[in-house]
Amino acid sequence: MRARPHSTCTGLRNCLTAVLAAVSVVTGSSIHAADFFNGEKLYQKYCQSCHGINGQGVIGGAPNFARGQALMKPDFNLYETIDRGKNAMPAFRGVFKEEEYYDVITYIRSFY
Ligand code: HEC
Repeated sequence: MRARPHSTCTGLRNCLTAVLAAVSVVTGSSIHAADFFNGEKLYQKYCQSCHGINGQGVIGGAPNFARGQALMKPDFNLYETIDRGKNAMPAFRGVFKEEEYYDVITYIRSFY
């Protein structure tokens, strides 16, 4: 038996709309491209004191983002560190909204 096309999925445009709506439901959020400029703002406020204006790191033990240190990992790992903290790095759980983690990750990746 062949699956019949979904009733709302007729024509390319309608199909895409249906797929995007389904993705939103599955992920629990709307489609969101990381906001580099919001990331920059958050970085300056919360991260720059330790990680430096160019990401080079200004306190002992902080990675040098400008050399790609600690950035050769998927976003998920960076998310976890930001969320939970790591050694001298404080946890930011409760400080950022879900999408803001990715905004700030996009920004720190731009140092390299
Ligand atoms: C009080 C100083 C301090 C602040 C504030 C701080 N960090 Fe860090 N951060 C560190 C230190 C120290 C490390 C190295 C931790 C280690 O590996 O021992 C680190 C590590 C990291 C790493 C590498 C994680 C990994 O998996 O290797 C990322 C990414 C990072 N910080 C992002 C941020 C972001 C984004 C912010 C702002 C929201 C921030 N940090 C704020 C001190 C800080």
